[in-house]
Amino acid sequence: MKNPFAYGRVVEGREFCPRPKLEKLIVDVLASGQNIVLHGERRVGKTSLVVRTANKLKQSRLLYVDFMAVNTAVDVAERIARATLAVSHKGNFVVQALKLLSSLSPVISMDPQTGTPSLSLNRTTMQRDVIGVIEDVLERVAELHKKKPLVVVFDEFQEILKIKNSREALARMRSKIQFHGNLPYVFSGSSRTKMEHIFADPVSPFYKSAISIQVGALGTQSFHNFLERNFVKGGRMISPELWTGIQELGITITGDTQQACWALWQASEPGDDLGAASLQNALDVIFEIEGSKYGDIVSTIAPSQLKCLLALAVVGGKTVYSKEFKHTSGITTNSSITKALGRMEELWLINRAAKAYSFANPFFALWLKQRFSGAVIVT
Ligand SMILES: Nc1ncnc2c1ncn2[C@@H]1O[C@H](COP(=O)(O)OP(=O)(O)O)[C@@H](O)[C@H]1O
Ligand SMILES: [Mg+2]
Repeated sequence: MKNPFAYGRVVEGREFCPRPKLEKLIVDVLASGQNIVLHGERRVGKTSLVVRTANKLKQSRLLYVDFMAVNTAVDVAERIARATLAVSHKGNFVVQALKLLSSLSPVISMDPQTGTPSLSLNRTTMQRDVIGVIEDVLERVAELHKKKPLVVVFDEFQEILKIKNSREALARMRSKIQFHGNLPYVFSGSSRTKMEHIFADPVSPFYKSAISIQVGALGTQSFHNFLERNFVKGGRMISPELWTGIQELGITITGDTQQACWALWQASEPGDDLGAASLQNALDVIFEIEGSKYGDIVSTIAPSQLKCLLALAVVGGKTVYSKEFKHTSGITTNSSITKALGRMEELWLINRAAKAYSFANPFFALWLKQRFSGAVIVT
């Protein structure tokens, strides 16, 4: 039997552990044509959840746009344009592209290996008013919706703040979207502060334009039962202290728990009993795969930053100005600690919430701890 656990990608169908309350709430809001802002840390399951719920609305098609790593307004227009083509894919791609996007100077190219056509927008002819192109593409979205209902998902939407003139882009997008009537938009984002900047700030054009829904890590009991069923199908027995063991390692986010289970599976055989003591084997599997990536990070950050990360791994992130933190890190001034941690946050290595810092990836923290302080992680 192949490893039934999945991490690092969207899960659908039988891989998706039901979240009945959230699913119902989102389906109801979308069905009523209202917009949603979906908040939640990375890997809690936002994308899987919106894909699942959008698919539940049988009459609607999902128009999905990922904003991850957009740099310019052209990128934004292009991603939305590609998504419109993906939903209107019937018939000839090229004919559709030209029809849909004729005013946007589309460039259609063909992957020589696979023969798959793809679309990009002509950047040279677009210098005049790039944001106007986003508006045009949003018009197309509304037209498509009139033909057959859509649910539009703008995932990792906070990334739009990275483009030049993001404020103007947001204002003009908002003024289009507000005339899209019963077409529901889901704006999903992993950075609370940035999403609040877009949606909760009274001067922001998106202020109060959507219903806010928080997605947390999957609730323990039902998720653990779900995961346990997979182990049992593969002949592994689970002792209940496995779950506490996982939590005690700081592994609490949905996707991280799945990753730990994936590794536990790799490190075991049918007939094995898995308990907290099995976790070190699972960590070894993960370190084997990810260790070189961690090593690269360690070799590129400044020594003071590494010291702070190590202290964070060992002491935790609630009291980063405490004597213990300073002693462990060897960094004695608050301002140096703030600066180092701030840089680590910019690199997405750590998160800050309500003044406490935590590792974005708990396995990296465990690796640092084991590697540099020789700590025994699993006891
Ligand atoms: N409903 C779910 N059931 C089981 N695993 C899930 C579920 N939602 C998320 N996961 C786990 O979390 C990982 C990340 O999910 P994803 O939807 O990409 O999260 P996000 O969009 O919040 O970053 C998945 O690869 C999977 O391991
Ligand atoms: Mg996502």
